[in-house]
Amino acid sequence: MKYKLFLAITHKIFYAIGSNKLTSSRIRIFFLRKTGIIFGKDVHINDGIIILKRWGYKRTQIVIEDRVAISSNVSFICETTHHHSKLKTIFPEFRVLDGKIHICEDTVIGTGAIIMPNVTIGKMSVIGAGSVITKDVGPYSVVVGVPGKVIKKISDEKK
Ligand SMILES: CC(C)(COP(=O)(O)OP(=O)(O)OC[C@H]1O[C@@H](n2cnc3c(N)ncnc32)[C@H](O)[C@@H]1OP(=O)(O)O)[C@@H](O)C(=O)NCCC(=O)NCCS
Repeated sequence: MKYKLFLAITHKIFYAIGSNKLTSSRIRIFFLRKTGIIFGKDVHINDGIIILKRWGYKRTQIVIEDRVAISSNVSFICETTHHHSKLKTIFPEFRVLDGKIHICEDTVIGTGAIIMPNVTIGKMSVIGAGSVITKDVGPYSVVVGVPGKVIKKISDEKK
């Protein structure tokens, strides 16, 4: 029990440093790795990242591949909860969500984007500022809006 409490507190601290404005991308990634998030090489994370995820649950794993760039205030929502709300009894179809998030190599995520559970973003994609991504995104896509929609694809000759 004491060990679990210790782990819960250390993970809170790691998340806090991982989202801090005063640290650098390298330091953020160093601490976020300790919470179980998987990072590839040369990933960049700006400040203000929000991660809704319980530590230690493989179901809510986050994988961020090589050279992904994450702008400020991006949210990774791996799980949702109703806490004490009575909604779950009177409105059971309002589901609690959980699932993995996988960001493939070289993708760029714009400021304030929100990535929902069970989403894979294919390689070399661009996610527009403020977009909410609720479904998988194919590779080489430019996605904007709420919910995110593909507005462009990187042309074949540039790949
Ligand atoms: C997604 C993005 C790359 C698109 O750039 P682009 O390819 O030059 O696209 P355009 O500016 O030609 O816009 C195309 C359409 O998408 C719309 N659009 C662009 N970005 C949008 C966004 N973030 N949310 C909603 N709509 C957006 C434009 O209004 C335009 O709509 P229209 O065709 O109805 O006029 C860019 O707008 C963006 O959001 N970049 C992220 C910037 C950022 O957060 N940088 C972080 C700094 S580290």
